[in-house]
Amino acid sequence: TNRTFTMIKPGAVKNGHLGAILEHINAGGFKIVSMKYTKLSAEKAGEFYAVHKERPFYGELVEFMSSGPIVAAVLEKENAVAEFRTLIGATNPADAAEGTIRKKFATSIGENAVHGSDSDENAEIESQFHFAGTEIFV
Ligand code: GTP
Ligand code: MG
Repeated sequence: TNRTFTMIKPGAVKNGHLGAILEHINAGGFKIVSMKYTKLSAEKAGEFYAVHKERPFYGELVEFMSSGPIVAAVLEKENAVAEFRTLIGATNPADAAEGTIRKKFATSIGENAVHGSDSDENAEIESQFHFAGTEIFV
């Protein structure tokens, strides 16, 4: 068993898809071990996505990710990082497989419903970015 980190992004929360996305996560066999409803400042969003600083869409990404409330969560499952990226589908919803969260709920590559960590190392870093150790319950 191991862990990944997710955010349900502002667009999905705003459009009322929070419950449905949590159902997908549950049906996918993930256990929620930490979760919060919160909002990122532009500064925190910029820090979270700092690896994309040089990309042309960085400003848009930071603006979007700080535009409204999100849900941040730590999820547990065997092979969690890869399994969760399969569950959410490709970054661009146009390329996402049928039945994936992004296929169902993303409206564009920029507003793509959910985040999923891309490695075990980043899952740990991103979980610590949002949660204190004492906020994670197994
Ligand atoms: P995350 O789980 O959010 O990290 O997505 P990802 O790992 O599938 O993609 P990546 O890390 O490469 O990009 C991070 C985020 O930047 C994506 O989820 C998109 O929201 C955004 N993004 C990526 N490419 C583009 C783009 O071409 N245009 C815009 N507007 N946003 C993009
Ligand atoms: Mg990524």
